[in-house]
Amino acid sequence: MSIDKIMVVGAGQMGLGIAQVCAMSGIEVVLHDISEEIVEKGINSIDKQLTRLVEKGKMSENEKNETQQRLTTSVNLSNASSVDLVIEAIVEKMEIKTKLFKELDKLTPDHTILATNTSSLPITEIAAATNRPKRVIGMHFMNPVPVMKLVEIIRGLATADEVFDQIKNLTEKINKVPVEVNDFPGFVSNRILMPMINEAIYTVYEGVAEPEAIDEVMKLGMNHPMGPLTLADFIGLDTCLYIMETLHEGFGDDKYRPCPLLRKYVSAGWLGRKSGRGFYTY
Ligand code: CAA
Ligand code: NAD
Repeated sequence: MSIDKIMVVGAGQMGLGIAQVCAMSGIEVVLHDISEEIVEKGINSIDKQLTRLVEKGKMSENEKNETQQRLTTSVNLSNASSVDLVIEAIVEKMEIKTKLFKELDKLTPDHTILATNTSSLPITEIAAATNRPKRVIGMHFMNPVPVMKLVEIIRGLATADEVFDQIKNLTEKINKVPVEVNDFPGFVSNRILMPMINEAIYTVYEGVAEPEAIDEVMKLGMNHPMGPLTLADFIGLDTCLYIMETLHEGFGDDKYRPCPLLRKYVSAGWLGRKSGRGFYTY
């Protein structure tokens, strides 16, 4: 079975990147979110990215037009009835994701694979909300999707080998590098990255240094492309908090306790770049 048509659920920063790279690789993409306004804004943002690629000589005008033609929008989840794969990229909350997976399970044909771009939540638990755990898998892209090569691929306990192979092949088709990791909280990427970001937030909280100084230390001292607080703002402070909560709950170890300052910023609606304010102002 080939994967010719996919639905991306969630037209936020991750969903848009995933939709863009899939459409650029010749796959038909339905971009779905909860309102017309959000999906329209999303399509405009992808158009801007494609125009930039044309301006830089990385894509022809013809390729841009063909990519745009492969992208359609949806605010009605029943449009999932015609796709071979759904990639979910909505908020990092188990109850919201399992509700969506239950609906998708009813609306999609038996052959459809249901993938989640979750940063940290157990794939096995998401899969168990459906009647097709064999066809549920983790496909964890990195931000910004058009630039970052890695996709962590995570099997749930019941994921079929055939589904794993199809997703691995698809990842290569869209010019990404698949790395298989096991289903534990935060997988590999966020098990290692997020405690570092949380520690950087504790460093602000305890008054060790200002955000600018902390970021400068990690950029100039460790050659990180972005300092940890700039990166936290870029990822979204809500997402960072939910990932830390998953690590804390999943391992039960206090070393994963989310910094109170991170909680405070999220309750204030300071979510980083996407809300205009986080450790920095945008
Ligand atoms: N979307 C698309 N393309 C983008 C982009 C975006 N948001 N941001 C930058 N780019 C492109 C630029 O257009 C540029 O392309 P060209 O080389 O073709 O001109 C290229 O990336 C480099 O950009 P810049 O020169 O403007 O800036 P930079 O050299 O600082 O790179 C960066 C930008 C790639 C984002 C770099 O800062 C970086 O690698 N940051 C760290 C990113 C990171 O760690 N991501 C992982 C986050 S964790 C995660 O994703 C998992 C999770 O579950 C939370
Ligand atoms: P975001 O806040 O930018 O976007 C989420 C989108 O989902 C919004 O447009 C929202 O309207 C939509 N949405 C919410 N509930 C929905 C529903 N029931 N049906 C349809 N759409 C719905 O979030 P994001 O940063 O793109 O993160 C999305 C997922 O990707 C999360 O699970 C996150 O952990 C994961 N992720 C994030 C990053 C990152 O750096 N931000 C990296 C890798 C993975």
